[in-house]
This record gives sequence, C-alpha cells and structure tokens, in this order.
Amino acid sequence: MLLEVRDLHVEFRTRDGVARAVNGVSYGVDEGETLAVLGESGSGKSVTAQAIMGILDVPPGRITGGEVVFQGRDLLKLKEDERRKVRGAEMAMIFQDALSSLNPVLSVGDQLGEMFTVHRGMSRKDARAKAVELMDRVRIPAARERVKQYPHQFSGGMRQRVMIAMALALEPALIIADEPTTALDVTVQAQVMELLAELRREYRMGLILITHDLGVVADVADRIAVMYAGRVVESAPVHDIYKAPAHPYTRGLLDSVPRLDLKGRELYAIKGLPPNLTHIPPGCAFHPRCPLARDVCRTDEPPLHEVADTRGSACHFWRECLNG
Ligand SMILES: Nc1ncnc2c1ncn2[C@@H]1O[C@H](COP(=O)(O)OP(=O)(O)OP(=O)(O)O)[C@@H](O)[C@H]1O
Ligand code: SF4
Ligand SMILES: [Mg+2]
Repeated sequence: MLLEVRDLHVEFRTRDGVARAVNGVSYGVDEGETLAVLGESGSGKSVTAQAIMGILDVPPGRITGGEVVFQGRDLLKLKEDERRKVRGAEMAMIFQDALSSLNPVLSVGDQLGEMFTVHRGMSRKDARAKAVELMDRVRIPAARERVKQYPHQFSGGMRQRVMIAMALALEPALIIADEPTTALDVTVQAQVMELLAELRREYRMGLILITHDLGVVADVADRIAVMYAGRVVESAPVHDIYKAPAHPYTRGLLDSVPRLDLKGRELYAIKGLPPNLTHIPPGCAFHPRCPLARDVCRTDEPPLHEVADTRGSACHFWRECLNG
C-alpha cells in the first residue's frame, strides 16, 4: 500500500463542545490507484485529507488517535520539518478553489518555477522552462505567453489546470484532490476530470479523489470509500458498489443520482440530516435516517464487516442490503 490510514480520529473543540469530525477512519490507496471518497457535507472527507497532508488547523483541531502510514512510515510521528519535505515533493493536494490557493501577486510562471528553484535547486531560467513544459502538459494553450500572467487572468478551468500543474511539478507519489471541479461549469468539469485521470495514469500516481459527484466516480475511480459521520461505512471496488451497495447509506446516495434511463421519475432523497458531530447518535450513527434500522442499530455500533476480499460494510444487515 502506498498510503494506509488506520483508525484515524480527529476532534475540534468548539463553543458547543467537542465535534468528533473523524471517528476511526481507515482507508488505503495503492500505487497507481484512484480512491474516490464520497459522503455528504460534514462527513469528514476534507478533515481526513488535511490530517494526511499535515495541514490540519491545530487548534481547534486535534488528532486524537490513529496512524497515517505513507511509503512505510507513520507521518503522524514525523517532526514538522520532515513533514514539510513530504508535502509537495511526495504528496500534493489540489483544492476546489484555485483562486484562493494560488498567490495573486506572483505570475503563474514564477509560482510553478518556485517549485523547482526551491525544491530542486534549479536556476531561474531552467525553472521557467520547466514551468512552460508543465503548462503544456496540462494543456494550457499558448503556455509560453501565458506563463507571465497572474492567476486572475485565467478562467476558472485554466486556473484549475495551473493548480494541477503545481501538484504534479515534483512528481509526487500521491495526489489528494478535494472536490477539484466543484467550482467549474459542467463541461469544464468533465475536461479537468479527464485530464486528471489521464495524468494520474501517465505518472502512475495514487489519487484520492474527494467528490460529491457520483457521476464521475464510475469513470475514474478504482475503489470507493463512503463516509458518514466521520467513519468509512462502505469500502469496495467501484463496480461492486454500483452493482449492489452493501450499506443502506450508499444505496441512498446512489438512488439520489439522476439517471438518464429513469428520466421523469422523481429523485430519491435520503430523509433527514447528517448528525450534529458534538452529539453523534449511539449505535449506528445512520440509524435515525435508515430505512432498515431496528433495535440493535440504536445500541450496537456495527463493525466493518468483511463482505468480500476487498470489500467492507459497517452495517449489521449488510446481507439484506446487498440482496436488495
Ligand atoms: N476549522 C474547523 N473548526 C471547527 N470545526 C471544524 C473545522 N473544520 C472542520 N470542522 C468540523 O468537521 C466537520 C467535517 O468537516 P469536513 O470539512 O471534513 O467535511 P466534508 O466531508 O469535507 O464536507 P464538504 O463536503 O462540505 O466539504 C465539519 O462539519 C465541522 O463540524
Ligand atoms: S446498522 Fe442498522 S441503522 Fe445502520 S445502516 Fe445498517 S441497518 Fe441501517
Ligand atoms: Mg470538504
């Protein structure tokens, strides 16, 4: 495994109490593999990613348990200066909002070039040439001219390509993309996602793709981890999940995606809201919203049951769900 997150716990101290944002997340990504992480807003997808990258806001955040094993070592045990070396060079992150992630007063070429002058000790001239090469790679037209421009002079889609170029610059083994296309128009979304998938294959990187968009997942991901209230509730190869989910929450998510073949039918919505993270329900956290819930669900927290070799479900009644 390139990256293995084991039983990760993250809390936030808030005025209303301790928000348990991540409650024992475990997931892994292999070299060259794409893991899609799904789940409603607030389920802990980004906080988990921040803990992996070492960019969590501490305080108010605090990692209270678990391991993040990357290329054989637990990153949570590294000192900050060692951690900084991993960031950018060995793992990089792409965010939703390129405009606030890029430096507004530096030209795109200078920002890309800095990756090479700072991390690789290159001359400015060589770094500039590398910047142009990268901009070509992410198919920004007229790279040689545009390398001198500033982030605000790029469209949203082109800016996102710049951020992908920044992430790729040092050829990291792992990229985490947190809703990389959410802020873009639908057609541009598809182009950027396609580019990301293509580069991932070419560079044989591991990719963690955090997304709300179940539509893109089937095309680009190998595996899916579904998160609910700070836990992974189902983890499986992508095609298994589409064929038959083994968790009622996954089923709910799938049923709420618009489908061309069922046009005109009213869309299903999972009833209720995700829990307040300072008061997560006992037993299975999903029980107040679950159509299959019964007494045991209100008292006993389901462990991650092994559904198949590479597949797990945290539901007492996963068999029932799987059969349908
Ligand atoms: N800086 C913070 N201070 C306090 N609480 C926070 C902070 N960041 C996150 N949280 C808590 O952690 C929870 C999980 O947040 P997270 O950003 O991981 O959700 P998410 O799954 O990425 O959702 P979204 O799909 O909306 O991006 C939030 O609902 C919030 O309660
Ligand atoms: S454990 Fe119970 S409440 Fe939780 S998802 Fe399964 S059936 Fe629903
Ligand atoms: Mg998020």
